[in-house]
Amino acid sequence: MISIRAAKIDDVSMISLIHAYCWRETYAFMPEAVLRSRSREFREQQWLNWFDSHEESDALFVIEADQKVVGFCFCCRNRDPEIDGRGELHAAYVLPDYRGRETGPVMMLTMVDFLAEQGLTPPVLWAFRDNPIRFWYAQMGWRSQIKRDRVIEGRRLPEVGYVCDDCDRLRQRLQRLVTRYSSEAALTQIPQHSQMLGRQKFPNQIAVSPGNNRKATEMNQQTPQGLL
Ligand SMILES: CC(C)(COP(=O)(O)OP(=O)(O)OC[C@H]1O[C@@H](n2cnc3c(N)ncnc32)[C@H](O)[C@@H]1OP(=O)(O)O)[C@@H](O)C(=O)NCCC(=O)NCCS
Repeated sequence: MISIRAAKIDDVSMISLIHAYCWRETYAFMPEAVLRSRSREFREQQWLNWFDSHEESDALFVIEADQKVVGFCFCCRNRDPEIDGRGELHAAYVLPDYRGRETGPVMMLTMVDFLAEQGLTPPVLWAFRDNPIRFWYAQMGWRSQIKRDRVIEGRRLPEVGYVCDDCDRLRQRLQRLVTRYSSEAALTQIPQHSQMLGRQKFPNQIAVSPGNNRKATEMNQQTPQGLL
């Protein structure tokens, strides 16, 4: 089971570790100089600065699983005049072992709801062109509005800006995914419960651990030993 809550300053260390780790893992296509510049120390300073001073319309959330912080997401007012939107889903990073199922939909839903409560609709988001997660955004109904280069450490990195034109429809889609995954998870509890009662009705193999992500296994990308 995953849960989501507002981040506290004590979470900065873990958020920074996840942020730096996921950049290196997801953005392996970026030049080494860029990745080196986005180190854990760099992120720690960035998030400590944020806790020091930020707008009411910003929100930083952490995802917890197995009593640990395993991911985070951040949304804020859109400050970029090149894209038409009032709110921005600015970051979403989860350790590989905890991806899949309801994690992404829960994070997106939480940020879209938060921004809507602040009157910051429509929301926008940016994805690097070479990050395949952006195809999921398109599937969820985000419309690609602009392609441009982002310059980091003097290197040009192509990115795509997306706008959500229909938040209600997006919410419905995300909610459906969350409901589907939650009911599947509930079903997988049955064998465990039966075992406790000494009546094993189902083979052990069908019990799914929420942290056992199919894509992490497929891509052979396990959370590094000793990270947590
Ligand atoms: C973005 C993120 C938080 C989403 O969480 P999640 O939903 O648990 O992640 P998933 O890996 O299940 O991806 C969600 C969807 O994208 C699809 N997807 C993920 N990686 C993909 C890939 N390499 N190619 C094609 N589709 C991919 C998945 O199939 C899934 O769609 P489905 O539910 O229809 O199967 C998580 O994938 C992550 O931390 N990624 C690394 C960092 C990142 O890319 N952040 C976003 C920056 S814009």
